[in-house]
Amino acid sequence: MIPIAVNEPILSGREKEYLIECINSGWISSEGPYVKELELLLAKRVNREYGIAVANGSGALDIAVRALEIGKGDEVIMPTFTIISCANAILNSGATPVLVDSYIDTWNMNVEQIESKITSKTKAIMVVHIYGLPCDMDPILNLARKHNLKIIEDAAELIGQTYKGKPCGSFGDISCFSFYPNKHITTGEGGMLLTNDGRLAERCRSLRNLCFQEGKRFVHEEMGWNYRMTNLQAALGVAQIERLDEFVQKKYFIGNFYHQLLSDVSSDAKIIQLPAPEKEYAKNIYWVFGIVINGEFNASDVMKKLSARKIGTRPFFYPMHLQPVFKKMGLFSNSNEQYPVAEMLAEKGFYIPSGLSLNEEKMQIVVKNLKEVLNECRNG
Ligand SMILES: Cc1ncc(COP(=O)(O)O)c(C=O)c1O
Repeated sequence: MIPIAVNEPILSGREKEYLIECINSGWISSEGPYVKELELLLAKRVNREYGIAVANGSGALDIAVRALEIGKGDEVIMPTFTIISCANAILNSGATPVLVDSYIDTWNMNVEQIESKITSKTKAIMVVHIYGLPCDMDPILNLARKHNLKIIEDAAELIGQTYKGKPCGSFGDISCFSFYPNKHITTGEGGMLLTNDGRLAERCRSLRNLCFQEGKRFVHEEMGWNYRMTNLQAALGVAQIERLDEFVQKKYFIGNFYHQLLSDVSSDAKIIQLPAPEKEYAKNIYWVFGIVINGEFNASDVMKKLSARKIGTRPFFYPMHLQPVFKKMGLFSNSNEQYPVAEMLAEKGFYIPSGLSLNEEKMQIVVKNLKEVLNECRNG
């Protein structure tokens, strides 16, 4: 059987043309014109004033936390069910991540748990949109206003998604994106910060570029990073963003087709839970098609059997409060640190091939094998 990868990007637009242009012109570093073009295009798409392209989404989060002057003694509230980049960025700045659990239907951060975690040290809420549906932004924005907190919005997974008709990435004081190849648009590696605040944008640009100073180039008042994006990466990104609407439509199609093919097993909640197709504030755009299994076996059992049949999968996130590296640092060790939904999702959740290059035939093969494997697991 031909392997079906968990993700394969589509690079069949003007990517090659723009890359050749970079090579012919000699503009390959971060100084080239495509970097600014990509910044303008994404900022416009998300209704933000300023875009700052960076080397990856993790770096965008590092810069966002530092640009907001969050540091030692400060706390930032974030979901435990997310990628480690979010906690890293907070810890790298010297601040402390404070966790909330997830909702069982959307897998996004549990908004009702946020307020009880706010203390006099809380400076920000890091909102992370997970897998396909946005977080419920209105109550989060109300809390931020009430308690004078900043919002860092991590929209890495939901480029092109909206909340109540407004683009994801338009809610944060700073919003962050990733252009890793499994994202809706890719630059190989890459990311972006967006903001409406000119002063913050300048700070992000400086932090991205080692805090070089104009006039005193090698004299530094502050430490930054080299998180610059190259013109080659940005050229890819410009070709990709030209097709963003088409890509988002393809993800809808993939998600809806999987729902259709799996309706017999998902109608019995004792077998599997599929992604919620919609909430009152958004339709799911299925960045990935996640599955949560019920029963005596775990996601890892199903994934192993699918892998033997050459079908790629990925486990769900492993919660921050269980990460060995953070346990060694003594983090999240209080007895009130209970996050049962995130733990269940980590044990029972995984996603099946969800990349843009999937077609109906491949999805049918995936589902046929998944159903067989589920049967094998249920029958011991
Ligand atoms: C929600 C979220 N934030 C941040 C990142 C980090 O992005 P990158 O891989 O570009 O560093 C990812 C990456 O997959 C992500 O899913």
